[in-house]
Amino acid sequence: MLFFIERTKNNIFINFSKKIMHNKIVEKMIEGLIQMKLIYTGKTKNVYELEDGNYLLKFKDDVTGEDGVFDPGANTVGLTIEGAGRAGLKLTKFFFEKLKEANIPTHYVDADIEEATMTVKPAEVFGEGVEVICRYRAVGSFLRRYGKYAEEGQPLDAFVEVTLKDDERQDPPISEDALDMLGILSKNEYRELKELTQRIAGVVKDELAKKEMELYDIKFEFGRLKDGQIVLIDEISGGNMRAYKQGEYIEPLQLERFMLQ
Ligand SMILES: Nc1ncnc2c1ncn2[C@@H]1O[C@H](COP(=O)(O)OP(=O)(O)OP(=O)(O)O)[C@@H](O)[C@H]1O
Ligand SMILES: [Mg+2]
Repeated sequence: MLFFIERTKNNIFINFSKKIMHNKIVEKMIEGLIQMKLIYTGKTKNVYELEDGNYLLKFKDDVTGEDGVFDPGANTVGLTIEGAGRAGLKLTKFFFEKLKEANIPTHYVDADIEEATMTVKPAEVFGEGVEVICRYRAVGSFLRRYGKYAEEGQPLDAFVEVTLKDDERQDPPISEDALDMLGILSKNEYRELKELTQRIAGVVKDELAKKEMELYDIKFEFGRLKDGQIVLIDEISGGNMRAYKQGEYIEPLQLERFMLQ
């Protein structure tokens, strides 16, 4: 039995994941209280620190978008869909286990679907966090920026680009030179991230292809573990990618169903 301490602007409260409580459960809760510390409230996940030093990611039912419409690139929570957290975690677990089989380093330790939680190794992000995007077809922000030269849906050869996690400035794209100059990523680190990104996106693309879907683009986050190793962190769910089937965009929840059923 797990429970979570949620922090809002004015309150701290305990969020029980099961309604009926027995003394034993209350005891366990107190144990849990001591063991888990909320360290970050994100838009779609909360991050807790566990007693053993690992992190626990709690997947929420909030998804990013604007005015009730889902948009993986958006910087605001647009809507809440029941079961979205668990669906995102299921897909994340599926992909992280595939990456493990492919010997690609990630932060993944294990996942509890029922509780919508994933245990991960803590990582330090680059700067205040960067996102690495891999594109196979021109859609989304690529098309908005380069529409003068690119056609919608035009094939792109696993094109990699980096954006800064900076909500205030709408996650601006940043070049390899600027990343180096601003001390966010060295040229060598950039090369390593780019290669990892293309390998990981390739694994995801192949898995989608097995279900007759095509990956158009996907975004990842990376971090450095205590021993210095660069690994994939965060999640790989429908909310991080655009997938199409016979030219039709597939919503994140549907993507989870197509992939896992
Ligand atoms: N292994 C890890 N170590 C440290 N931080 C992590 C790890 N995995 C994920 N994170 C961070 O945990 C947070 C998860 O919360 P969430 O996905 O809601 O992020 P957010 O930054 O608020 O929103 P968005 O991802 O849309 O920008 C992110 O800031 C992510 O960088
Ligand atoms: Mg996120």
